[in-house]
Amino acid sequence: MRTSVLVHDNARGSLDAIRPALMVPSLAEALAHAWRAFRDAAEPVNVSQVQHRSPFRYPGGKTWLVPEVRSWLSTHTVDRFVEPFAGGASCGLMVAAEGSARVVLGELDPYVSAVWNVIFVAPKKDARWLCEQISGFRCTVKNVRDTLAVEPRTTRDLAWQTIVRNRCARGGILAPGAGLNKSGEAGKGIASRWYPETLVQRITDLVEMRSNVDFVECDAFDLLKKWARRRRTAWFLDPPYTASAKSAGNRLYTAHTIDHVALFAAAAKCAGPVMMTYDDSPEVRKLAAKHRFAISTVPMKSTHHEVHRELILTKD
Ligand SMILES: C[S@@+](CC[C@H](N)C(=O)[O-])C[C@H]1O[C@@H](n2cnc3c(N)ncnc32)[C@H](O)[C@@H]1O
Repeated sequence: MRTSVLVHDNARGSLDAIRPALMVPSLAEALAHAWRAFRDAAEPVNVSQVQHRSPFRYPGGKTWLVPEVRSWLSTHTVDRFVEPFAGGASCGLMVAAEGSARVVLGELDPYVSAVWNVIFVAPKKDARWLCEQISGFRCTVKNVRDTLAVEPRTTRDLAWQTIVRNRCARGGILAPGAGLNKSGEAGKGIASRWYPETLVQRITDLVEMRSNVDFVECDAFDLLKKWARRRRTAWFLDPPYTASAKSAGNRLYTAHTIDHVALFAAAAKCAGPVMMTYDDSPEVRKLAAKHRFAISTVPMKSTHHEVHRELILTKD
């Protein structure tokens, strides 16, 4: 295959040196190995340079993985991108916004699903109502408590409560037991993460994209069953990290019970390309090796600014 490559002057010598190897089929594996080493040496992505499209601040969110998913997807010819553990859906929303494939988002948690249902499924007037609620809200501890104390009667009520809880709970955690962040970040109070204009803009932009996004409130395994045989469907699987005893998924999500053995078996059966992410543990590496996933790691910066590496497992 012939292709054009844009190279910085400083990297030209290296490219010229490896150019002959690019045509030697027996060196393909060595090149893939070199590429993984090259990527392993890379710095974590600076998330402030990635466009944020989600209305959620999501624990375990994958904004930092957006460039990686974009470049992986560009090496495949697909017309669908399915993200069955959507959460804040940073990667799926990037794909939908850039139009590289039609996007299917799935999520089991009813609170998170309510927001996606209002944005992508319900009549557009519900999304407008949600935006009005956000614009008109004075974010004080009393108002937050009063809003969360109401028994939601409709999906849009539930979506509204979810937005408030997600913005005002410690760490954005929606699972039971997460307290309100009353002192806020840097002592800025409960409204330290309440950005009404940004939220309204993001929701409005997403509603504009609804013809390119399907949202389904369901178990990830149902989506896997439904679409697994399609070759031109790419999968991005980011389940709660609960495969090893040290993982934090149990604390972060309301829906956290996953049969990881069954998930790997289902992912391995997909006819199209699959990318999975996990925290690094021997249990996960073993499952990945068993199902012949390629294993690599990507650096990310935690909320405490520590750099650690997460597993990226791919099957192409
Ligand atoms: C690690 S988070 C996904 C984060 C997401 N990639 C992002 O960028 O924000 C995992 C999500 O899977 C959801 N979940 C857990 N079990 C599920 C299941 N069986 N089916 C679908 N979603 C599930 C959780 O509610 C949570 O939102």
